[in-house]
Amino acid sequence: MGAYRVLGLETSCDETAAAIVEADRGDDGTSGGQTLAQALRSQIDEHRPFGGVVPEIAARAHLDILDGLVARALADSGLALRDLDAVAATAGPGLIGGVLVGVMTAKALALASGLPFIAVNHLEAHALTARLQGGLAFPYLLVLASGGHCQFLAVEGVGACRRLGTTIDDAAGEAFDKAAKMLGLGHPGGPAVEKAARLGDPARFALPRPLVGRPGCDLSFSGLKTALRQTVERLGPTPPTPQDIHDLCAGFQQAIADCLADRARAARHLFAQRHGPGHALVLAGGVAANQTLRAALARVADEAGMVFAAPPPALCTDNAAMVAWTGIERLRLGLTDPLDFRARPRWPL
Ligand code: KG4
Ligand code: ZN
Repeated sequence: MGAYRVLGLETSCDETAAAIVEADRGDDGTSGGQTLAQALRSQIDEHRPFGGVVPEIAARAHLDILDGLVARALADSGLALRDLDAVAATAGPGLIGGVLVGVMTAKALALASGLPFIAVNHLEAHALTARLQGGLAFPYLLVLASGGHCQFLAVEGVGACRRLGTTIDDAAGEAFDKAAKMLGLGHPGGPAVEKAARLGDPARFALPRPLVGRPGCDLSFSGLKTALRQTVERLGPTPPTPQDIHDLCAGFQQAIADCLADRARAARHLFAQRHGPGHALVLAGGVAANQTLRAALARVADEAGMVFAAPPPALCTDNAAMVAWTGIERLRLGLTDPLDFRARPRWPL
């Protein structure tokens, strides 16, 4: 029967990455795939002095290093371009300068080698990554939590995600990043807050749980961020002590975990109205790397007799294996794209 092999490129934010994924042609995707090679370079050090991602610096860095990462992925896999079945790239949503670098590179490789080009929606790539490990059939309930998005989705198939609820203000990752900045923990905030929270008491500071218990399954994090600022101000004119910072981080992370868990329970009911009880609850996106949030959502799944799935942390944050895997899922259905496909800075699911 043979295998599909797809090269994927990711350049939509501050990770530059190329990966090659392989999967059985005779399968429907539930057996997953194998990552044959992954080359990834984070630009965190370039952006750190600015306290956030600078689009112009990101685009230039992608341009400088993407070719080298593609060459390395090919060399590591022992494959040549002619051994592949398609070239896929994130074509949005994201910082357009970076997205254009990935899309132009993928189109050039496709044109030079006669392979099909596949334009991948970055959010769909996060949404489908859990299937790369195998054992996950459609439909499933997804919590997609990244730096720019925070949504509950019914993933009904490839190209078929139905939104059940979304944040009405900040994304969860954005909330982590802003909290970290406020506490002087630097960028990116999520991993820094998680690390500081390990030594903290989540019960010391009372922080709100916005929208908990409300109808629907929308989320909101901006009130929580404001409450954190006010709590820091109430501590006094001197900067918070290391123990204050640990306790603030633990409380903040626990508040996000409680919000996501409560809203996921509500999303589960909305999902069930259309699809029945549902067999799996999946957590994906960069924020899904957080162990406290994984545990909170695993409990929600457990209460409902659902399987809990989340990609390994390295596949939660931006990477190219998820893009290559989405390329395979689309190729399987004959969904390739013309070389004049235009990159989309905004591209809702
Ligand atoms: O999916 P991603 O890598 O990029 C986007 O598509 O946005 O997500 C990045 C976001 C950042 O906001 C980062 O702070 C957050 O994911 N993040 C985390 C953790 N690791 C990354 N948030 C909480 N805990 C973590 N361990
Ligand atoms: Zn992402």
